[in-house]
Amino acid sequence: MYVCVCNAVTDKDIIQAAKEGACSLGDLRKELNVATCCGRCATCARGLLRQCNQRSATHPSTL
Ligand code: FES
Repeated sequence: MYVCVCNAVTDKDIIQAAKEGACSLGDLRKELNVATCCGRCATCARGLLRQCNQRSATHPSTL
């Protein structure tokens, strides 16, 4: 599923970035250009990243 349509970033891209250490929207901006155009994806991207980080903290093998 596309999270950021402007930059063609998917949920899988964000999950991969989280696995590689992204822990903030700023990290996603730097790594994937998420939320660097219209910004509509920022809330969704932040929420997905938060879920990934919580999951990896409690169940590292589930990401
Ligand atoms: S949808 Fe992500 S910047 Fe527009």
